[in-house]
Amino acid sequence: MKNPFIISGYAGAEYFCDREKESERLLQAAKNGRNIVLASIRRLGKTGLIKFFHEILKKETDIIPVYLDIMPTVDLSSFTSLLAKSVFEQTSNISIRTINKIKKWFSSVTPVISYDAFTGQPSLEFKFLSSGQVKQTLEEIFNYLKNDKRRFLISIDEFQQIAFYPEKNIEAILRSHIQNLNNVTFIFSGSKKHILIEMFTKENKPFFQSSEFMDLGFIDKEKYSSFIHNKFSLNGRTISNENIDYILKQTRTHTYYVQFLCNVIFSSAKRVIQKNDIDLILNQILLNNETIYHSYRNLLTKNQWIVLKAIAINGGVEEPSSSNFLKKYNLSSPSSVILAVNSLIDKELLYEENNKIYVSDQFFALWLKYYG
Ligand SMILES: Nc1ncnc2c1ncn2[C@@H]1O[C@H](COP(=O)(O)OP(=O)(O)OP(=O)(O)O)[C@@H](O)[C@H]1O
Ligand SMILES: [Mg+2]
Repeated sequence: MKNPFIISGYAGAEYFCDREKESERLLQAAKNGRNIVLASIRRLGKTGLIKFFHEILKKETDIIPVYLDIMPTVDLSSFTSLLAKSVFEQTSNISIRTINKIKKWFSSVTPVISYDAFTGQPSLEFKFLSSGQVKQTLEEIFNYLKNDKRRFLISIDEFQQIAFYPEKNIEAILRSHIQNLNNVTFIFSGSKKHILIEMFTKENKPFFQSSEFMDLGFIDKEKYSSFIHNKFSLNGRTISNENIDYILKQTRTHTYYVQFLCNVIFSSAKRVIQKNDIDLILNQILLNNETIYHSYRNLLTKNQWIVLKAIAINGGVEEPSSSNFLKKYNLSSPSSVILAVNSLIDKELLYEENNKIYVSDQFFALWLKYYG
């Protein structure tokens, strides 16, 4: 029996909860030629939403989706290589004929085709010798798309990565190509919101006013609750609404943590799930991760650790430097707390959402609360 709570990748609409409004908005944007910046904190479901939406696009429109995750790229060369690979692999059937057609588009680079030893799946590789070749190839990819009669949607996941490339004018280069395309729209997705905001909303930046901003929120509690209920009951399991609420409370409805906890509960094969089972399982998850949590402690100063723990116990905090908070958790001075909070946000151990600061990893937050 397949575990209905997916914790990596995308397994189809059947295993996907809600996101109806969000995908409808993405659909309208793609149909009408508008680009979207999709941002949220980590592990909330951006990649899942893109995959879910691409399936809808394939079913309901003649727009062809292309997905690429540029996290592994480090410069314009690796970006161009991945873009070329993704575009050609996802918009055409890779055959000798296509390769020959593709080759005609490139003046300075020859794509190499290789076959997976196990599956026989063909894949494409673009390798560059000089940076001149890279810029030329990038232009040629966009020209190729422009000349194609079909419409495309290209979703670039972890888009903030381009801010770390060594090339200085990367945003300007990309923007100039992108604005020339009438048959291609984009989704730029990422979790480093401040970088994306900087890129897309600052007047002096190339991407200024090129896209709509879409801030992905948490999945609605009611909808998540009935999703969980259905997945358990369809598989002959019983769980009360009260206990589902308890799961959503412990995980703060943060998608990945909900999925993970439910996945482990499901795999326990208990027919009737009681609160005590949930507690035992959750506790085991926290203990399994303990090595990682201890390593965090070694990497932080004592002050940072104490502040992190206080925020975890408090379940988030609005004003970490308020005298109330300092007194409640016996913290030394407002300035040292602010310093620690800033550094912890920088390290992505804390995040800010609607003027409140939370621990990013909800299991870590629980561990800090019970064991830290
Ligand atoms: N609507 C959903 N219903 C069920 N599971 C989901 C949903 N959205 C995402 N997930 C699952 O939750 C986990 C986290 O989602 P995902 O990887 O899409 O988040 P993300 O925002 O892209 O995270 P990151 O910022 O780390 O890239 C994944 O395992 C995914 O399968
Ligand atoms: Mg993602």
